[in-house]
Amino acid sequence: MNNTQSTQVIFEISKPGRRCHRVPPCDVPTERPLSELIPSNHLATAPPALPEVGEIDLIRHFTNLSTRNMSIDTNFYPLGSCTMKYNPKRHERLAALAGLAALHPLQDDETLQGILEILYEMQQFLAEISGLPAVSLQPAAGAQGELTALYVAAAYFRDKGETHRRKVLVPDSAHGTNPASAALAGFDTVTIKSGPDGLVDLSDLKAKLGDDTAVFMITNPNTLGLFETQITTITDWLHAKGALVYLDGANMNAILGITRPGDFGADMQHYNVHKTFTGPHGGGGPGSGPIAVRDFLAPYLPAPIIVKDGAKFRLNYDMPKSIGRVRSFFGNIGILFRGYCYIRTLGPEGLKRVAEHAVLNANYLRSRVAQIFDIPHPGPCMHEFVASVRSLLRERKISAKDICKRLLDFSFHAPTVYFPLVVPEALMMEPTETESKETLDAFADTLARIKEEDPEIVRTAPHTHIVSRPDEVKAAKDQKLRWQPPTASNQVSRER
Ligand SMILES: Cc1ncc(COP(=O)(O)O)c(C=O)c1O
Repeated sequence: MNNTQSTQVIFEISKPGRRCHRVPPCDVPTERPLSELIPSNHLATAPPALPEVGEIDLIRHFTNLSTRNMSIDTNFYPLGSCTMKYNPKRHERLAALAGLAALHPLQDDETLQGILEILYEMQQFLAEISGLPAVSLQPAAGAQGELTALYVAAAYFRDKGETHRRKVLVPDSAHGTNPASAALAGFDTVTIKSGPDGLVDLSDLKAKLGDDTAVFMITNPNTLGLFETQITTITDWLHAKGALVYLDGANMNAILGITRPGDFGADMQHYNVHKTFTGPHGGGGPGSGPIAVRDFLAPYLPAPIIVKDGAKFRLNYDMPKSIGRVRSFFGNIGILFRGYCYIRTLGPEGLKRVAEHAVLNANYLRSRVAQIFDIPHPGPCMHEFVASVRSLLRERKISAKDICKRLLDFSFHAPTVYFPLVVPEALMMEPTETESKETLDAFADTLARIKEEDPEIVRTAPHTHIVSRPDEVKAAKDQKLRWQPPTASNQVSRER
């Protein structure tokens, strides 16, 4: 919410008898009255309890609610590791074209040639960008891409009779989905320490790498925004042990067109199309997490894969070693299509410039923030960096969370907070390439101002929002998403 917006809101506006529209009486000709045709146990005995609201009040209610949130179209959103970049409006117009939006996935392949061609080309683009030739578009998000790739790895090792490979190695700076995916896929996870430079500690890796290692999951650039400069040594070591290297591709925005995971030794990777290639995301969705793998892993990918036969495109189900489907139909077409538009619009040169500008913006912001807070790991950074406000907490009792809450009062979305876990009181900032210098300066100026403010103001922020500091667990786990008719007991909470 902007500072100018009122903090007053009346949520309950229903008044008996108010209407937007009246449903006309049923005029379908029937031999007998409907009340006789429908079994009596299926007939409602009372009208449904629905809110009763006039049209203009309804429109204002939802329009006002829609402006009470942060969005990339209204606010700077430096949410580290989430790549909240501008989502071009042209993609929305193209995605809404009837030829795409009105397709049904159960149509015959013959009538789906256009979208199959687009998705086939998308497979090829993702193969080219990663340097890994075989692609599945099915996974619905990054985390599901990780899980799918680990299923692929498990199927590959099973096929080779190497079922003793039980371990998946994961750096301590990794996103929580990495160990979670490894555990879900039935592996044992082993944590690899980061060194003081924020990079994988090679001596710890050496000590833990063994004949029972199946996969090393590495994020590069890592979640501290640092490029793992020892990456080829790491991938050589893994391969010498017969293990696979998985690249968590959440941070591809930093290296698009500059280096390719396949070239530095990764065997598998996922993409977060919703991040790197501008699918509008946030609030948990929607996502798309395709995976790309080396040739020898292609037979295990989820079926079907889109193939080209002469001039025709079709779905290939003839993959006897496939791990099977991980998602219905062809994947999340809406997000894949927007990603396709983005790649086609920019081309190889444009994508490379995206990465260069993302890194430039991050380093500019980093240099400003370094004058305000501690940045524990040495720069320069890639597309993001992590500051620590541990000393501010010690000296002025202002925590990372307090700063994030106070930023809302200045119409800035918070950075990612308390992640990665290796940095105490972490603020992880990713400005992306789409922000101007003026925006970055305004953000840095605001951080500097908050640091000097009366700690009590910061600790009790935000002051301009209807909801200030909710119980975060309850807000996530006990959501009220359905209108309920007012009763004496729910009246108070409904008026927030
Ligand atoms: C480094 C990293 N890996 C994996 C993921 C998981 O991606 P998704 O949210 O698309 O499941 C994220 C998400 O923030 C991430 O930052």
